[in-house]
Amino acid sequence: MKFENSLEFAQQLDKEDELADYRNEFIFPKINGKDAIYFVGNSLGLQPRTARKYVDEIMKDWAELGVEGHFKAEKPWWDYHERFAGKLASVVGANASEVTVMNTLTVNLHLLMVSFYRPEGKRYKIICEEKAFPSDQYMISSQVRLHGYDPEDAIVEIKKRDGEHNFRTEDILNKIREVGEECALVLIGGVNYYTGQVMDMETITKAGHETGAFVGWDLAHAAGNIELKLSEWNVDFAAWCSYKYMNSGPGNASGCFINQKYHNQKDIPRFEGWWGHNKERRFLMEPEFQPESNADAWQISNAPVLALAPYLASLEMFAEVGMSSLLKKRDKIVAYLEFVLKEIDKEVESTFEIITPSAPSERGTQLSVFLHGEGKEIFNYLMDNGVMLDWREPNVIRLAPAPFYCSYEDIFRFGQILKQGILSKNKS
Ligand SMILES: Cc1ncc(COP(=O)(O)O)c(C=O)c1O
Repeated sequence: MKFENSLEFAQQLDKEDELADYRNEFIFPKINGKDAIYFVGNSLGLQPRTARKYVDEIMKDWAELGVEGHFKAEKPWWDYHERFAGKLASVVGANASEVTVMNTLTVNLHLLMVSFYRPEGKRYKIICEEKAFPSDQYMISSQVRLHGYDPEDAIVEIKKRDGEHNFRTEDILNKIREVGEECALVLIGGVNYYTGQVMDMETITKAGHETGAFVGWDLAHAAGNIELKLSEWNVDFAAWCSYKYMNSGPGNASGCFINQKYHNQKDIPRFEGWWGHNKERRFLMEPEFQPESNADAWQISNAPVLALAPYLASLEMFAEVGMSSLLKKRDKIVAYLEFVLKEIDKEVESTFEIITPSAPSERGTQLSVFLHGEGKEIFNYLMDNGVMLDWREPNVIRLAPAPFYCSYEDIFRFGQILKQGILSKNKS
């Protein structure tokens, strides 16, 4: 499609957008009295209007039923988490039995490492990407130390080539083959948090398995953002937070995928708790742990239903819309953002560079833009003038126009504000 950088054209795209009405289902923060142009869905998704109703429902049940709410609430609390599996499975391409929701992301990655990082003999190394999200670096390093290894030796980082912004799949595969039978685990971010690069998860998972390693994915920036086929790709495990593209609310619960081949394995190491116990027998309070026969076996504590409520509200919207419609709009709105950025760059004589891959198969919603020169001033100008976006050192802004609630007009208006920001900086 041939794009134009004009208000009329953007508004026409909005008219043709089948998801346009969903914008009204979210609450936008205000800047200078007006709805913000919200490009930070990669950090914290907006609040769905239905979220409050779901929370109120639990508050009401708690007030009226007290402890009886566990079994007698309209959505009983004791199995509240089970409402997620089917719908989340559609978001991440899994069987419902392979998905559960619990705890928070880093906590779940630690718990999954208990099952899937089992160093033995010469197989003890973990392959991850360089400059992984800091929490992943701390998590991996502490796991390695827990098992008595030196992180310097046991953690192998995949590097980018000098002068390049993104990882090359061939370099990842070569590193996996090089580490070979010393590799116990490959654990990488499915979508790079800094650049928005989407990893070739299928190919990398296959390569990891060929060396005999387990392969897991941190899907913080992937869930609800890109097409995932975790079962088909034969991924061993994955976890994601829900507060980014899944719009569940700050710090909210994490989803987990555990491949069905590990369910019902009697000897799999796992930290256990009563919510992972066979639900039919849970309240018999028996001494011996009898795991559930699905991913719920990894559950530990009773579910924090007040936190889960807004997540459920949001997930029901995902189920209603479906990932394929979201992805269709995502491709178009991100292509439009890329077009507008390039138009503005021409007008202001090249002051920035998009570092996210240009191939649609290698990116999701996020475009990361390297601002040459006084980037922070431009970032501040954008924030002051109605655009919410985020800043990453040394000079990168991340823009994620979530297809659920962003409009093409947002993109056009953002372009105009960016241009004004750059021009006013050049003048000063
Ligand atoms: C890629 C990645 N991994 C891990 C985390 C940590 O998430 P949490 O604080 O929910 O454990 C984040 C948070 O933004 C993230 O972006």
